[in-house]
Amino acid sequence: MSDPLTETAAWQALQAHFESFKDAHLRDLFAADPQRGERLSAEGAGLYLDYSKHRVTDETLGLLMNLAHARGLEARRDAMLRGEKINLTEGRAVLHTALRAPAAAVVKVDGRNVVPDVQEVLGRMGAFAHEVRRGAWLGFTGRPIRNIVNIGIGGSDLGPVMAYEALKHYAQRDLTVRFVSNVDGTDLVEKTRDLNPEETLFIVSSKTFTTQETMANAGSARAWLLSALGDEAAVARHFVAVSTNAEAVQKFGIDTANMFGFWDWVGGRYSMDSAIGLSLMLAVGPEQFGELLAGFRDMDEHFASAPLPQNLPVLMGLLGVWYNNFFGAQTLAVLPYDQYLAYFPAYLQQLDMESNGKHVTLDGHEVGYQTGPVVWGQPGTNGQHAFYQLIHQGTKLIPCDFIGFCQTLNPLPAPEQPGLGHHDLLMANVFAQTEALAFGKTLPQVLSEGVDPGLAPHRVFEGNRPTSTLLAERLTPRTLGALIALYEHKVFVQGVIWDINSFDQWGVELGKVLAGRIVKELGKDEPDLTHDSSTNALIRRYRAGR
Ligand code: F6P
Repeated sequence: MSDPLTETAAWQALQAHFESFKDAHLRDLFAADPQRGERLSAEGAGLYLDYSKHRVTDETLGLLMNLAHARGLEARRDAMLRGEKINLTEGRAVLHTALRAPAAAVVKVDGRNVVPDVQEVLGRMGAFAHEVRRGAWLGFTGRPIRNIVNIGIGGSDLGPVMAYEALKHYAQRDLTVRFVSNVDGTDLVEKTRDLNPEETLFIVSSKTFTTQETMANAGSARAWLLSALGDEAAVARHFVAVSTNAEAVQKFGIDTANMFGFWDWVGGRYSMDSAIGLSLMLAVGPEQFGELLAGFRDMDEHFASAPLPQNLPVLMGLLGVWYNNFFGAQTLAVLPYDQYLAYFPAYLQQLDMESNGKHVTLDGHEVGYQTGPVVWGQPGTNGQHAFYQLIHQGTKLIPCDFIGFCQTLNPLPAPEQPGLGHHDLLMANVFAQTEALAFGKTLPQVLSEGVDPGLAPHRVFEGNRPTSTLLAERLTPRTLGALIALYEHKVFVQGVIWDINSFDQWGVELGKVLAGRIVKELGKDEPDLTHDSSTNALIRRYRAGR
Protein backbone atom coordinates (compact mmCIF):
# COMPACT_ATOMS: atom_id res chain seq x y z
CA MET A 1 0.00 0.00 0.00
CA SER A 2 1.30 3.43 -0.87
CA ASP A 3 1.23 6.38 1.56
CA PRO A 4 -2.08 8.19 1.92
CA LEU A 5 -2.17 10.64 -0.98
CA THR A 6 -2.13 13.89 0.96
CA GLU A 7 0.82 12.74 3.06
CA THR A 8 3.12 12.11 0.12
CA ALA A 9 5.98 14.50 -0.48
CA ALA A 10 4.74 15.03 -4.03
CA TRP A 11 1.33 16.16 -2.78
CA GLN A 12 2.75 18.43 -0.12
CA ALA A 13 5.07 20.05 -2.64
CA LEU A 14 2.04 20.79 -4.81
CA GLN A 15 0.17 22.19 -1.81
CA ALA A 16 3.05 24.52 -0.95
CA HIS A 17 3.32 25.61 -4.57
CA PHE A 18 -0.42 26.22 -4.71
CA GLU A 19 -0.32 28.54 -1.68
CA SER A 20 2.18 30.83 -3.35
CA PHE A 21 0.78 30.53 -6.86
CA LYS A 22 -3.00 30.48 -6.50
CA ASP A 23 -3.54 34.17 -7.29
CA ALA A 24 -1.32 34.26 -10.37
CA HIS A 25 -3.25 35.50 -13.38
CA LEU A 26 -3.17 34.06 -16.87
CA ARG A 27 -2.71 37.61 -18.16
CA ASP A 28 0.65 37.78 -16.40
CA LEU A 29 1.67 34.23 -17.29
CA PHE A 30 1.10 34.96 -20.98
CA ALA A 31 2.79 38.37 -20.77
CA ALA A 32 5.89 36.77 -19.23
CA ASP A 33 6.21 34.10 -21.93
CA PRO A 34 5.35 35.06 -25.51
CA GLN A 35 5.77 31.43 -26.64
CA ARG A 36 3.43 30.04 -23.99
CA GLY A 37 0.54 29.39 -26.38
CA GLU A 38 2.65 27.11 -28.57
CA ARG A 39 4.87 25.73 -25.85
CA LEU A 40 2.09 24.45 -23.62
CA SER A 41 0.55 22.18 -26.20
CA ALA A 42 0.76 18.50 -27.01
CA GLU A 43 -0.38 16.31 -29.84
CA GLY A 44 -1.32 12.66 -30.16
CA ALA A 45 -3.59 10.36 -32.20
CA GLY A 46 -4.70 13.27 -34.39
CA LEU A 47 -5.71 15.50 -31.49
CA TYR A 48 -4.01 18.80 -30.68
CA LEU A 49 -4.30 19.90 -27.05
CA ASP A 50 -3.70 23.52 -26.12
CA TYR A 51 -3.33 23.62 -22.34
CA SER A 52 -1.62 27.00 -22.18
CA LYS A 53 -4.77 28.65 -20.81
CA HIS A 54 -4.44 26.72 -17.58
CA ARG A 55 -3.30 28.24 -14.32
CA VAL A 56 0.02 26.44 -14.35
CA THR A 57 3.71 27.15 -14.81
CA ASP A 58 6.49 24.78 -15.75
CA GLU A 59 6.99 24.29 -12.04
CA THR A 60 3.34 23.28 -11.55
CA LEU A 61 3.57 20.82 -14.42
CA GLY A 62 6.81 19.37 -13.06
CA LEU A 63 5.23 18.88 -9.65
CA LEU A 64 2.17 17.24 -11.18
CA MET A 65 4.43 14.88 -13.13
CA ASN A 66 6.26 14.07 -9.88
CA LEU A 67 2.91 13.21 -8.34
CA ALA A 68 2.15 10.87 -11.24
CA HIS A 69 5.50 9.14 -10.76
CA ALA A 70 5.04 8.92 -7.01
CA ARG A 71 1.66 7.22 -7.50
CA GLY A 72 3.22 4.69 -9.88
CA LEU A 73 1.11 5.80 -12.82
CA GLU A 74 3.19 4.11 -15.50
CA ALA A 75 3.34 0.80 -13.62
CA ARG A 76 -0.43 0.90 -13.01
CA ARG A 77 -1.09 1.72 -16.67
CA ASP A 78 1.10 -1.17 -17.78
CA ALA A 79 -0.62 -3.52 -15.33
CA MET A 80 -3.99 -2.59 -16.84
CA LEU A 81 -2.74 -3.05 -20.39
CA ARG A 82 -1.22 -6.45 -19.48
CA GLY A 83 -4.55 -7.73 -18.23
CA GLU A 84 -3.83 -7.82 -14.51
CA LYS A 85 -6.94 -7.95 -12.35
CA ILE A 86 -6.80 -4.31 -11.30
CA ASN A 87 -10.57 -4.19 -10.67
CA LEU A 88 -9.99 -5.56 -7.19
CA THR A 89 -13.51 -5.40 -5.82
CA GLU A 90 -14.81 -7.55 -8.66
CA GLY A 91 -11.65 -9.59 -9.22
CA ARG A 92 -11.54 -8.67 -12.89
CA ALA A 93 -9.08 -7.51 -15.51
CA VAL A 94 -9.81 -4.18 -17.18
CA LEU A 95 -9.14 -4.72 -20.83
CA HIS A 96 -11.22 -2.44 -23.00
CA THR A 97 -7.92 -1.81 -24.82
CA ALA A 98 -7.98 -5.46 -26.00
CA LEU A 99 -11.21 -4.67 -27.88
CA ARG A 100 -9.20 -2.60 -30.33
CA ALA A 101 -5.82 -4.32 -30.13
CA PRO A 102 -4.22 -5.31 -33.46
CA ALA A 103 -5.44 -8.74 -34.59
CA ALA A 104 -1.95 -10.15 -34.09
CA ALA A 105 -1.57 -8.84 -30.53
CA VAL A 106 -1.47 -11.19 -27.57
CA VAL A 107 -3.33 -10.08 -24.46
CA LYS A 108 -3.85 -12.77 -21.87
CA VAL A 109 -6.49 -13.14 -19.21
CA ASP A 110 -5.96 -16.16 -16.96
CA GLY A 111 -3.44 -17.48 -19.48
CA ARG A 112 -5.80 -17.22 -22.48
CA ASN A 113 -5.13 -14.85 -25.36
CA VAL A 114 -8.40 -12.91 -25.67
CA VAL A 115 -7.59 -11.15 -28.95
CA PRO A 116 -8.80 -14.02 -31.19
CA ASP A 117 -12.09 -14.04 -29.24
CA VAL A 118 -12.48 -10.32 -29.91
CA GLN A 119 -11.73 -10.82 -33.60
CA GLU A 120 -14.20 -13.69 -33.86
CA VAL A 121 -17.05 -11.56 -32.50
CA LEU A 122 -16.06 -8.61 -34.70
CA GLY A 123 -16.13 -10.92 -37.70
CA ARG A 124 -19.64 -12.16 -36.86
CA MET A 125 -20.83 -8.61 -36.23
CA GLY A 126 -19.42 -7.55 -39.59
CA ALA A 127 -21.11 -10.39 -41.48
CA PHE A 128 -24.43 -9.64 -39.76
CA ALA A 129 -24.08 -5.91 -40.45
CA HIS A 130 -23.43 -6.52 -44.14
CA GLU A 131 -26.53 -8.70 -44.38
CA VAL A 132 -28.80 -6.18 -42.68
CA ARG A 133 -27.38 -3.19 -44.54
CA ARG A 134 -27.87 -4.75 -47.97
CA GLY A 135 -31.40 -5.84 -47.10
CA ALA A 136 -30.57 -9.55 -47.05
CA TRP A 137 -31.57 -10.15 -43.43
CA LEU A 138 -35.31 -10.62 -43.78
CA GLY A 139 -37.96 -10.18 -41.15
CA PHE A 140 -40.51 -12.89 -40.38
CA THR A 141 -42.79 -11.87 -43.24
CA GLY A 142 -39.95 -11.68 -45.75
CA ARG A 143 -39.45 -7.91 -45.70
CA PRO A 144 -35.95 -6.50 -45.29
CA ILE A 145 -35.06 -4.80 -42.02
CA ARG A 146 -35.17 -1.00 -42.29
CA ASN A 147 -35.41 -0.04 -38.60
CA ILE A 148 -32.95 -0.86 -35.86
CA VAL A 149 -33.85 -0.28 -32.22
CA ASN A 150 -31.17 -0.73 -29.59
CA ILE A 151 -32.59 -1.50 -26.16
CA GLY A 152 -30.10 -0.95 -23.35
CA ILE A 153 -29.20 1.51 -20.62
CA GLY A 154 -26.08 3.07 -19.12
CA GLY A 155 -23.02 1.74 -20.91
CA SER A 156 -25.27 -0.37 -23.13
CA ASP A 157 -26.91 2.78 -24.46
CA LEU A 158 -24.87 5.94 -23.94
CA GLY A 159 -21.85 4.88 -25.99
CA PRO A 160 -23.81 3.59 -29.00
CA VAL A 161 -26.25 6.52 -29.06
CA MET A 162 -23.47 9.08 -28.61
CA ALA A 163 -21.37 7.54 -31.37
CA TYR A 164 -24.34 7.05 -33.68
CA GLU A 165 -25.22 10.73 -33.35
CA ALA A 166 -21.55 11.69 -33.72
CA LEU A 167 -21.12 9.63 -36.88
CA LYS A 168 -24.52 10.17 -38.49
CA HIS A 169 -22.75 11.75 -41.44
CA TYR A 170 -21.29 8.30 -42.21
CA ALA A 171 -24.52 6.36 -41.61
CA GLN A 172 -26.62 4.53 -44.18
CA ARG A 173 -29.49 6.96 -44.23
CA ASP A 174 -32.20 4.56 -45.37
CA LEU A 175 -31.87 2.73 -42.06
CA THR A 176 -33.71 4.23 -39.11
CA VAL A 177 -31.71 3.73 -35.93
CA ARG A 178 -33.18 4.45 -32.51
CA PHE A 179 -32.21 3.90 -28.90
CA VAL A 180 -34.59 2.98 -26.11
CA SER A 181 -33.20 3.17 -22.59
CA ASN A 182 -35.65 4.58 -20.05
CA VAL A 183 -38.04 2.23 -18.25
CA ASP A 184 -40.56 5.04 -18.71
CA GLY A 185 -42.89 3.45 -21.29
CA THR A 186 -42.90 6.74 -23.16
CA ASP A 187 -39.44 5.99 -24.46
CA LEU A 188 -40.41 2.71 -26.15
CA VAL A 189 -43.81 3.96 -27.28
CA GLU A 190 -42.47 7.13 -28.90
CA LYS A 191 -39.52 5.37 -30.53
CA THR A 192 -41.67 2.61 -32.09
CA ARG A 193 -44.95 4.38 -32.87
CA ASP A 194 -44.13 5.06 -36.53
CA LEU A 195 -42.19 1.84 -37.17
CA ASN A 196 -43.44 -1.13 -39.14
CA PRO A 197 -42.84 -4.24 -36.95
CA GLU A 198 -42.24 -6.33 -40.08
CA GLU A 199 -39.16 -4.20 -40.85
CA THR A 200 -37.89 -3.70 -37.32
CA LEU A 201 -34.94 -5.36 -35.62
CA PHE A 202 -34.41 -5.04 -31.86
CA ILE A 203 -30.92 -5.35 -30.43
CA VAL A 204 -31.21 -6.13 -26.74
CA SER A 205 -27.93 -4.90 -25.29
CA SER A 206 -27.14 -5.77 -21.72
CA LYS A 207 -23.92 -7.05 -20.25
CA THR A 208 -25.75 -8.83 -17.46
CA PHE A 209 -29.10 -9.36 -19.21
CA THR A 210 -30.76 -8.74 -15.85
CA THR A 211 -31.06 -4.95 -15.82
CA GLN A 212 -34.63 -4.06 -14.87
CA GLU A 213 -35.11 -1.29 -17.43
CA THR A 214 -33.72 -3.27 -20.34
CA MET A 215 -35.60 -6.44 -19.51
CA ALA A 216 -38.89 -4.51 -19.16
CA ASN A 217 -38.34 -2.72 -22.46
CA ALA A 218 -37.27 -5.91 -24.24
CA GLY A 219 -40.37 -7.72 -22.96
CA SER A 220 -42.65 -4.90 -24.12
CA ALA A 221 -40.88 -4.71 -27.48
CA ARG A 222 -41.48 -8.43 -27.93
CA ALA A 223 -45.16 -7.96 -27.06
CA TRP A 224 -45.36 -5.07 -29.58
CA LEU A 225 -43.85 -7.27 -32.27
CA LEU A 226 -45.99 -10.30 -31.50
CA SER A 227 -49.20 -8.29 -31.39
CA ALA A 228 -48.49 -7.38 -35.02
CA LEU A 229 -46.96 -10.62 -36.30
CA GLY A 230 -48.82 -13.07 -34.07
CA ASP A 231 -46.24 -15.86 -34.02
CA GLU A 232 -43.52 -16.59 -31.43
CA ALA A 233 -41.29 -17.78 -34.27
CA ALA A 234 -41.01 -14.13 -35.40
CA VAL A 235 -38.78 -13.34 -32.41
CA ALA A 236 -35.80 -15.11 -33.99
CA ARG A 237 -35.88 -12.80 -37.05
CA HIS A 238 -36.50 -9.58 -35.13
CA PHE A 239 -34.42 -9.89 -31.96
CA VAL A 240 -30.70 -10.24 -31.47
CA ALA A 241 -28.82 -9.90 -28.20
CA VAL A 242 -25.53 -8.45 -27.06
CA SER A 243 -24.53 -9.84 -23.70
CA THR A 244 -22.12 -11.81 -21.57
CA ASN A 245 -24.99 -13.93 -20.23
CA ALA A 246 -25.92 -16.62 -22.76
CA GLU A 247 -28.22 -18.42 -20.34
CA ALA A 248 -30.41 -15.37 -19.72
CA VAL A 249 -30.47 -14.56 -23.45
CA GLN A 250 -31.76 -18.04 -24.18
CA LYS A 251 -34.33 -17.80 -21.41
CA PHE A 252 -35.65 -14.58 -22.94
CA GLY A 253 -36.26 -16.50 -26.16
CA ILE A 254 -33.41 -15.20 -28.31
CA ASP A 255 -31.49 -17.86 -30.19
CA THR A 256 -27.89 -17.77 -28.96
CA ALA A 257 -26.87 -18.06 -32.62
CA ASN A 258 -28.10 -14.46 -32.77
CA MET A 259 -26.14 -13.39 -29.73
CA PHE A 260 -22.96 -11.35 -29.88
CA GLY A 261 -20.87 -11.85 -26.79
CA PHE A 262 -18.36 -9.94 -24.79
CA TRP A 263 -16.55 -10.57 -21.55
CA ASP A 264 -16.44 -9.68 -17.89
CA TRP A 265 -13.18 -7.78 -18.43
CA VAL A 266 -15.10 -5.15 -20.39
CA GLY A 267 -16.79 -2.67 -18.07
CA GLY A 268 -20.24 -1.44 -19.13
CA ARG A 269 -19.11 2.17 -19.58
CA TYR A 270 -16.04 0.98 -21.50
CA SER A 271 -17.98 -1.32 -23.82
CA MET A 272 -19.07 0.75 -26.80
CA ASP A 273 -16.28 -0.68 -28.95
CA SER A 274 -17.31 -4.25 -28.08
CA ALA A 275 -20.43 -5.93 -29.52
CA ILE A 276 -22.35 -3.27 -27.58
CA GLY A 277 -21.52 -1.12 -30.61
CA LEU A 278 -23.53 -3.41 -32.93
CA SER A 279 -26.26 -0.79 -33.56
CA LEU A 280 -23.54 1.69 -34.52
CA MET A 281 -21.89 -0.84 -36.81
CA LEU A 282 -25.22 -1.49 -38.53
CA ALA A 283 -25.60 2.25 -39.07
CA VAL A 284 -22.11 3.12 -40.32
CA GLY A 285 -20.89 -0.24 -41.58
CA PRO A 286 -18.04 -2.51 -40.50
CA GLU A 287 -15.36 -0.49 -42.32
CA GLN A 288 -16.15 2.74 -40.50
CA PHE A 289 -16.50 0.81 -37.25
CA GLY A 290 -12.99 -0.51 -37.95
CA GLU A 291 -11.81 3.08 -38.38
CA LEU A 292 -13.35 3.95 -35.02
CA LEU A 293 -11.39 1.08 -33.44
CA ALA A 294 -8.23 2.33 -35.17
CA GLY A 295 -8.75 5.72 -33.53
CA PHE A 296 -9.12 4.10 -30.10
CA ARG A 297 -5.94 2.15 -30.82
CA ASP A 298 -4.05 5.31 -31.87
CA MET A 299 -4.80 6.84 -28.49
CA ASP A 300 -4.04 3.62 -26.61
CA GLU A 301 -0.61 3.57 -28.24
CA HIS A 302 -0.06 7.23 -27.42
CA PHE A 303 -1.10 6.67 -23.81
CA ALA A 304 1.15 3.62 -23.53
CA SER A 305 4.24 5.19 -25.04
CA ALA A 306 4.31 9.01 -25.00
CA PRO A 307 6.45 10.50 -22.24
CA LEU A 308 4.21 11.71 -19.42
CA PRO A 309 4.75 15.46 -20.07
CA GLN A 310 3.53 15.02 -23.67
CA ASN A 311 0.90 12.42 -22.92
CA LEU A 312 -2.59 13.82 -23.54
CA PRO A 313 -4.59 11.70 -21.06
CA VAL A 314 -1.89 12.24 -18.44
CA LEU A 315 -1.87 16.01 -18.94
CA MET A 316 -5.64 16.29 -18.87
CA GLY A 317 -5.91 13.98 -15.87
CA LEU A 318 -3.32 15.86 -13.85
CA LEU A 319 -4.75 19.27 -14.74
CA GLY A 320 -8.10 17.98 -13.50
CA VAL A 321 -6.48 16.93 -10.21
CA TRP A 322 -4.89 20.39 -9.90
CA TYR A 323 -8.27 22.16 -10.03
CA ASN A 324 -10.27 19.49 -8.21
CA ASN A 325 -7.94 19.03 -5.27
CA PHE A 326 -6.09 22.32 -4.90
CA PHE A 327 -8.38 25.04 -6.29
CA GLY A 328 -11.47 23.22 -4.98
CA ALA A 329 -13.26 23.17 -8.35
CA GLN A 330 -16.28 20.87 -8.15
CA THR A 331 -17.14 20.42 -11.80
CA LEU A 332 -15.77 20.07 -15.31
CA ALA A 333 -17.66 21.47 -18.29
CA VAL A 334 -17.21 19.66 -21.60
CA LEU A 335 -18.16 21.89 -24.50
CA PRO A 336 -18.00 20.32 -27.97
CA TYR A 337 -18.36 22.83 -30.79
CA ASP A 338 -19.94 20.31 -33.10
CA GLN A 339 -23.62 19.52 -33.20
CA TYR A 340 -22.84 15.87 -33.96
CA LEU A 341 -21.23 15.62 -30.51
CA ALA A 342 -24.41 16.66 -28.71
CA TYR A 343 -24.44 13.45 -26.66
CA PHE A 344 -20.75 13.50 -25.81
CA PRO A 345 -21.13 15.26 -22.42
CA ALA A 346 -23.87 12.79 -21.40
CA TYR A 347 -21.64 9.89 -22.40
CA LEU A 348 -18.76 11.35 -20.39
CA GLN A 349 -20.98 11.72 -17.37
CA GLN A 350 -21.24 7.97 -17.02
CA LEU A 351 -17.65 7.34 -18.05
CA ASP A 352 -16.23 9.77 -15.52
CA MET A 353 -18.78 9.92 -12.70
CA GLU A 354 -19.54 6.19 -12.49
CA SER A 355 -15.81 5.51 -12.62
CA ASN A 356 -14.44 8.08 -10.20
CA GLY A 357 -17.41 8.88 -7.97
CA LYS A 358 -15.85 6.87 -5.11
CA HIS A 359 -15.26 7.56 -1.42
CA VAL A 360 -12.78 4.88 -0.37
CA THR A 361 -9.28 3.97 -1.47
CA LEU A 362 -8.43 0.63 -3.05
CA ASP A 363 -7.82 -0.88 0.37
CA GLY A 364 -11.11 0.43 1.72
CA HIS A 365 -10.07 3.51 3.68
CA GLU A 366 -12.10 6.70 3.54
CA VAL A 367 -10.37 9.12 1.17
CA GLY A 368 -9.43 12.37 2.85
CA TYR A 369 -9.70 14.40 -0.34
CA GLN A 370 -12.01 15.08 -3.25
CA THR A 371 -12.40 12.47 -5.99
CA GLY A 372 -14.23 12.69 -9.34
CA PRO A 373 -15.79 15.95 -10.54
CA VAL A 374 -19.34 16.58 -11.67
CA VAL A 375 -19.14 16.46 -15.47
CA TRP A 376 -21.61 18.42 -17.53
CA GLY A 377 -21.96 20.42 -20.71
CA GLN A 378 -23.63 20.75 -24.07
CA PRO A 379 -22.59 21.82 -27.52
CA GLY A 380 -21.49 25.35 -28.27
CA THR A 381 -22.69 27.77 -29.29
CA ASN A 382 -26.01 26.90 -27.61
CA GLY A 383 -24.48 26.79 -24.13
CA GLN A 384 -23.16 30.33 -24.61
CA HIS A 385 -26.72 31.59 -24.51
CA ALA A 386 -27.59 29.57 -21.45
CA PHE A 387 -25.00 28.89 -18.76
CA TYR A 388 -21.76 30.53 -19.91
CA GLN A 389 -22.69 33.70 -18.00
CA LEU A 390 -21.97 31.82 -14.78
CA ILE A 391 -18.67 30.49 -16.11
CA HIS A 392 -17.55 33.99 -17.11
CA GLN A 393 -18.79 36.07 -14.20
CA GLY A 394 -20.13 33.74 -11.51
CA THR A 395 -18.40 32.89 -8.26
CA LYS A 396 -17.47 29.32 -9.11
CA LEU A 397 -14.32 28.10 -10.79
CA ILE A 398 -15.31 25.84 -13.69
CA PRO A 399 -12.52 24.38 -15.79
CA CYS A 400 -13.76 23.73 -19.32
CA ASP A 401 -12.77 21.43 -22.17
CA PHE A 402 -13.48 23.02 -25.55
CA ILE A 403 -13.54 20.61 -28.51
CA GLY A 404 -13.48 21.78 -32.12
CA PHE A 405 -12.57 20.74 -35.66
CA CYS A 406 -10.76 22.60 -38.44
CA GLN A 407 -13.12 21.26 -41.10
CA THR A 408 -16.85 20.79 -41.01
CA LEU A 409 -18.79 17.89 -42.46
CA ASN A 410 -21.52 20.30 -43.55
CA PRO A 411 -19.97 23.32 -45.26
CA LEU A 412 -22.57 26.05 -45.42
CA PRO A 413 -21.68 29.55 -46.60
CA ALA A 414 -22.53 32.33 -44.17
CA PRO A 415 -24.78 34.64 -46.22
CA GLU A 416 -23.72 37.79 -44.40
CA GLN A 417 -19.96 37.06 -44.41
CA PRO A 418 -18.49 36.69 -47.92
CA GLY A 419 -15.79 34.04 -48.06
CA LEU A 420 -16.73 32.60 -44.69
CA GLY A 421 -19.05 29.83 -43.61
CA HIS A 422 -21.11 28.74 -40.63
CA HIS A 423 -18.13 26.73 -39.49
CA ASP A 424 -15.95 29.83 -39.30
CA LEU A 425 -18.62 31.50 -37.18
CA LEU A 426 -18.72 28.43 -34.94
CA MET A 427 -14.96 28.22 -34.50
CA ALA A 428 -14.58 31.96 -33.97
CA ASN A 429 -16.72 31.38 -30.90
CA VAL A 430 -14.40 28.65 -29.59
CA PHE A 431 -11.39 30.92 -29.80
CA ALA A 432 -13.30 33.94 -28.47
CA GLN A 433 -14.67 32.06 -25.48
CA THR A 434 -11.35 30.66 -24.33
CA GLU A 435 -9.72 34.07 -24.84
CA ALA A 436 -12.44 35.84 -22.88
CA LEU A 437 -12.33 33.25 -20.10
CA ALA A 438 -8.57 33.49 -19.73
CA PHE A 439 -8.00 37.22 -20.07
CA GLY A 440 -11.32 38.76 -19.10
CA LYS A 441 -11.80 42.52 -19.13
CA THR A 442 -10.47 44.78 -16.41
CA LEU A 443 -12.17 47.75 -14.79
CA PRO A 444 -9.83 50.23 -16.51
CA GLN A 445 -10.63 48.61 -19.85
CA VAL A 446 -14.35 48.92 -19.18
CA LEU A 447 -14.02 52.55 -18.05
CA SER A 448 -11.91 53.41 -21.09
CA GLU A 449 -14.94 52.48 -23.21
CA GLY A 450 -16.86 55.31 -21.55
CA VAL A 451 -19.08 53.11 -19.42
CA ASP A 452 -20.79 54.86 -16.48
CA PRO A 453 -18.50 54.15 -13.46
CA GLY A 454 -21.55 53.05 -11.44
CA LEU A 455 -22.32 50.35 -14.01
CA ALA A 456 -18.76 49.42 -14.84
CA PRO A 457 -18.37 46.64 -12.22
CA HIS A 458 -21.17 44.71 -13.92
CA ARG A 459 -19.13 44.66 -17.10
CA VAL A 460 -15.87 43.51 -15.58
CA PHE A 461 -14.66 40.01 -16.43
CA GLU A 462 -12.17 38.76 -13.91
CA GLY A 463 -10.72 36.21 -16.37
CA ASN A 464 -8.30 33.56 -15.15
CA ARG A 465 -10.90 30.88 -15.99
CA PRO A 466 -8.96 27.81 -17.16
CA THR A 467 -9.68 25.96 -20.36
CA SER A 468 -8.27 23.17 -22.50
CA THR A 469 -8.84 23.34 -26.23
CA LEU A 470 -8.83 20.11 -28.22
CA LEU A 471 -8.56 20.68 -31.93
CA ALA A 472 -8.72 17.99 -34.60
CA GLU A 473 -8.83 18.12 -38.36
CA ARG A 474 -12.26 16.66 -38.96
CA LEU A 475 -14.85 14.57 -37.13
CA THR A 476 -14.18 11.10 -38.56
CA PRO A 477 -14.76 7.69 -36.96
CA ARG A 478 -11.03 7.55 -36.29
CA THR A 479 -10.96 10.94 -34.57
CA LEU A 480 -13.98 9.99 -32.50
CA GLY A 481 -12.29 6.78 -31.35
CA ALA A 482 -9.21 8.73 -30.29
CA LEU A 483 -11.33 11.30 -28.47
CA ILE A 484 -13.24 8.66 -26.50
CA ALA A 485 -10.07 6.77 -25.59
CA LEU A 486 -8.50 10.06 -24.47
CA TYR A 487 -11.23 10.50 -21.88
CA GLU A 488 -11.18 6.81 -20.90
CA HIS A 489 -7.50 7.09 -20.08
CA LYS A 490 -7.86 10.50 -18.43
CA VAL A 491 -10.35 8.93 -16.04
CA PHE A 492 -7.88 6.10 -15.40
CA VAL A 493 -5.05 8.55 -14.64
CA GLN A 494 -7.17 10.35 -12.08
CA GLY A 495 -8.29 7.09 -10.48
CA VAL A 496 -4.63 6.12 -10.02
CA ILE A 497 -3.77 9.47 -8.42
CA TRP A 498 -6.76 9.20 -6.07
CA ASP A 499 -6.05 5.52 -5.34
CA ILE A 500 -9.63 4.48 -6.06
CA ASN A 501 -11.17 1.69 -8.11
CA SER A 502 -12.43 3.34 -11.29
CA PHE A 503 -13.93 0.07 -12.51
CA ASP A 504 -16.70 -0.91 -10.12
CA GLN A 505 -20.05 0.84 -9.54
CA TRP A 506 -21.48 -0.34 -6.24
CA GLY A 507 -23.07 3.07 -5.85
CA VAL A 508 -25.87 2.17 -8.24
CA GLU A 509 -26.83 -1.00 -6.35
CA LEU A 510 -28.74 0.26 -3.31
CA GLY A 511 -31.30 2.18 -5.35
CA LYS A 512 -31.79 -0.84 -7.61
CA VAL A 513 -32.46 -3.15 -4.64
CA LEU A 514 -34.88 -0.73 -2.97
CA ALA A 515 -36.77 -0.15 -6.24
CA GLY A 516 -37.16 -3.93 -6.60
CA ARG A 517 -38.74 -4.04 -3.17
CA ILE A 518 -40.92 -0.95 -3.59
CA VAL A 519 -42.33 -1.92 -6.97
CA LYS A 520 -44.03 -4.89 -5.29
CA GLU A 521 -45.69 -2.46 -2.88
CA LEU A 522 -47.24 -0.38 -5.65
CA GLY A 523 -49.69 -3.06 -6.78
CA LYS A 524 -53.28 -3.66 -5.71
CA ASP A 525 -53.23 -4.94 -2.13
CA GLU A 526 -52.53 -2.48 0.66
CA PRO A 527 -49.07 -3.54 1.81
CA ASP A 528 -47.64 -3.09 5.24
CA LEU A 529 -45.28 -0.18 4.55
CA THR A 530 -42.21 -0.25 6.71
CA HIS A 531 -40.11 2.53 5.17
CA ASP A 532 -39.37 5.88 6.78
CA SER A 533 -42.39 8.20 7.14
CA SER A 534 -41.51 10.23 4.03
CA THR A 535 -41.20 7.21 1.74
CA ASN A 536 -44.35 5.64 3.23
CA ALA A 537 -46.34 8.85 2.66
CA LEU A 538 -45.13 9.21 -0.93
CA ILE A 539 -45.99 5.58 -1.73
CA ARG A 540 -49.47 5.97 -0.21
CA ARG A 541 -50.11 9.15 -2.15
CA TYR A 542 -48.93 7.54 -5.37
CA ARG A 543 -51.09 4.48 -4.78
CA ALA A 544 -54.12 6.64 -4.14
CA GLY A 545 -53.51 8.60 -7.31
CA ARG A 546 -52.41 5.90 -9.76
O1 F6P B 1 -25.78 1.77 -13.97
C1 F6P B 1 -25.19 0.60 -13.56
C2 F6P B 1 -24.82 -0.29 -14.68
O2 F6P B 1 -24.36 -1.49 -14.17
C3 F6P B 1 -23.78 0.33 -15.64
O3 F6P B 1 -22.49 0.21 -15.18
C4 F6P B 1 -24.07 -0.40 -16.89
O4 F6P B 1 -23.50 0.23 -17.98
C5 F6P B 1 -25.58 -0.38 -16.88
O5 F6P B 1 -25.93 -0.56 -15.53
C6 F6P B 1 -26.26 -1.39 -17.76
O6 F6P B 1 -25.92 -2.69 -17.39
P1 F6P B 1 -26.20 -3.92 -18.35
O7 F6P B 1 -25.39 -3.72 -19.59
O8 F6P B 1 -25.77 -5.13 -17.57
O9 F6P B 1 -27.66 -3.94 -18.65
